Amino acid sequence: MFTNAHRQLITLILLYFSTIIISTVTCSNSNPNNIAVGVNWGTMTSHQLPPEKVVEMMTENGFKKVKLFEAEKRIMEALIGSEIEVMVAIPNFMLYDMSRDPVYADYWVDANVTTYSYPGGVNIKYVAVGNEPFLKAYNATYLQITLPALKNVQNALNRAGLGSEIKATVPLNADIYESPESNPVPSAGDFRLEIKDATIEIVRFLYLNDAPFTVNIYPFLSLYGNPYFPMDFAFFDGSNHPVRDGNRVYTNVFDANYDTLVASLTKAGYPDMKIVVGEIGWPTDGDVNANVKNAKRFNQGVVKHVLGSKGTPARPGRLEIYLFSLLDENKKSIAPGSFETHWGIFEYDGKPKYELDLTGSKRDKGLAPVVGVQYMKRRWCVLNPRVKDLDGLAKEIDYACSLSDCTSLGYGSSCNRLSLVGNASYAFNMYYQLQGQSDWDCEFNGLAAVTWEDPSVGECRFPVMIAYGTSVVVHRKILKVLLGLLEGCIVFLLLVS
Ligand SMILES: *[C@@H]1O[C@H](CO)[C@@H](O)[C@H](O)[C@H]1NC(C)=O
Ligand SMILES: *[C@@H]1O[C@H](CO)[C@@H](O)[C@H](O)[C@H]1NC(C)=O
Ligand SMILES: *[C@@H]1O[C@H](CO)[C@@H](O)[C@H](O)[C@H]1NC(C)=O
Repeated sequence: MFTNAHRQLITLILLYFSTIIISTVTCSNSNPNNIAVGVNWGTMTSHQLPPEKVVEMMTENGFKKVKLFEAEKRIMEALIGSEIEVMVAIPNFMLYDMSRDPVYADYWVDANVTTYSYPGGVNIKYVAVGNEPFLKAYNATYLQITLPALKNVQNALNRAGLGSEIKATVPLNADIYESPESNPVPSAGDFRLEIKDATIEIVRFLYLNDAPFTVNIYPFLSLYGNPYFPMDFAFFDGSNHPVRDGNRVYTNVFDANYDTLVASLTKAGYPDMKIVVGEIGWPTDGDVNANVKNAKRFNQGVVKHVLGSKGTPARPGRLEIYLFSLLDENKKSIAPGSFETHWGIFEYDGKPKYELDLTGSKRDKGLAPVVGVQYMKRRWCVLNPRVKDLDGLAKEIDYACSLSDCTSLGYGSSCNRLSLVGNASYAFNMYYQLQGQSDWDCEFNGLAAVTWEDPSVGECRFPVMIAYGTSVVVHRKILKVLLGLLEGCIVFLLLVS
């Protein structure tokens, strides 16, 4: 006979086991897939890899989330059916129109979101409204229009019936908050005064719509901007210079920066605001601290941090991040620094620069490259070794560099040890490759010649460009020829009349 006590005991035991079973199931469900590292895919390049091949590569490597800077048709189409979760963006130059006119937002959402949002289409999860619109360098240009633009976009998503699954957010740079110099600890953090009110209004709107706050955090720039910054505090593998903040101990600048944001949000009344790190990464060239070794150390550290699910001292739990960036972009502005064209985990041609374990499998099997890439002919443009008179060389180098990418020649960079002859060859070749290897792109006043021998030396690579997407350059060239013809015709007509 069962007494009541027995029944209760059995129920308890059953409950206990079912709890174990349920928690095992949820853990194994959530572990590998939900904790996925995202990546930014920018396209400011002279030559673009076929998007379908890039999507294949991302899938092969286990990237489950991607952040885009526009809604480029070719890329959106390549993502159809891929299951990769997408954050698609509205560039800053569209913010003004977006803020003024709800219909404009409707059109944008219709063309760039609704079109792709069907079962088996593109898995769009976020729309980024602008890119770092409150950046100090923009002098408050977007201060008044960002919130109205955000509202119009979220409302357009709602009208399209997508608002519960797709959230509008605003990626902001970490320069919107800081701790006072007198008390430089994360818990003393607050939003910068000039943008504080505007930022808090954005936070309020995001919070009410269950959308995350998106922030870009760059430990590399902490180091770049400050020669006294303790090097190992930029990384994740322990620091000899921990920062103490009450009971909390910070061993890396990322956690300290993130918690400065947590403190700022808490002061504004939003202690549980969801945070997404929209950009984080490390470049591989263009500065003394930008190299493959540091980039691998940093990015592997970030990925491990995310997979560890511990969060930061002030915000334990999961981190959601997007690495910056997938591929090198040789057309990025180098105003912030020569490293700007070297953020890629992958080269311009889709080859991984280093190994990165994205899943915590600890098998250093290496990242898969983009396969089936087509290159231009294996030839290079260099300083003609037979030329004796080098007058005017500096001018030609400047010209070549102004229209290509010579960031690898600078101090601390991969080609910094070249001689003047090497510098000239490097500059000529970059110009030649970016222009599309036409004979007339290797002239330089008779100083240059084409070679079939790879001039690369050690770490300093002389690239051969990929054979895609020269369209912009070609079009410009055709236009020039046509204009020339037109001019000729006009002159001819004037002469005969
Ligand atoms: C869709 O996005 C692209 C890229 O950002 C943009 O050029 C285009 O104008 C957008 N479409 C509409 C209807 O706004
Ligand atoms: C911001 O102001 C500075 C100094 O007044 C100026 O040099 C810079 O061009 C301005 N930038 C923009 C984006 O307006
Ligand atoms: C090569 O070019 C770089 C970048 O312009 C410069 O710093 C370096 O001094 C040059 N080297 C020589 C030998 O002229």
